Amino acid sequence: MSTNLDELFESNRRWADATERRSPGFFTSLLAQQAPQYLWIGCADSRVPANEILGLLPGEVFVHRNVANVVVHSDLNALSVMQFAIDMLQVRHIMVVGHYGCGGVRAALEGLRIGIADNWIRHVQDVRNKHRTWLDGVGDDELRLKALCELNVLEQALNVCETTVVQDAWQRGQTVVVHGWVYGLHNGLLQDLKMTVAGAGDVAAAYGLALGALKTRFDAIRKNGRP
Ligand code: CO
Repeated sequence: MSTNLDELFESNRRWADATERRSPGFFTSLLAQQAPQYLWIGCADSRVPANEILGLLPGEVFVHRNVANVVVHSDLNALSVMQFAIDMLQVRHIMVVGHYGCGGVRAALEGLRIGIADNWIRHVQDVRNKHRTWLDGVGDDELRLKALCELNVLEQALNVCETTVVQDAWQRGQTVVVHGWVYGLHNGLLQDLKMTVAGAGDVAAAYGLALGALKTRFDAIRKNGRP
């Protein structure tokens, strides 16, 4: 067994060479500054890499990932990332990106014990509890998991909108648009959950519309079977 991971360094050299060949001066041009337009807040799951999914190069998306793409009001890590992205990098879009089949969301839904993460996943259980009456009526277990993956996106996007960082940006007239997306592990595709918020006055309406659309979609699947 290799202990020094030579293969990864080899792979890295091949990637750096290919990138530089395709675009001479690529790396030196990034030295001067990073100017990404986007802040991606997603799950730490190894199958959901922001740059690859978006087809973006180094320098094009600022990324924050944790278990189950949770945004907690008092999480200094997430807040620091958001403030740096908004105030210093002037990103124009923040996307909260969940994914179907999320292990963290599944643990929250089923009350599974994992370890330390149980305490983190509590935040997703708060989402489950908030929507419990409706969720209990959602068909089978797999469909319920899909629904909670989506609900978690809307709630975490709402949390983003409510941070002082985003509220202050809107207050001073800076363009910051918050989005809620979900990613399909099975097909590699992103889906817009249509929670798109561009100002403090839009938050409640955007959340309400997206939540309504989500419920209508799942209620239709329950009544008519899967599309
Ligand atoms: Co996940």
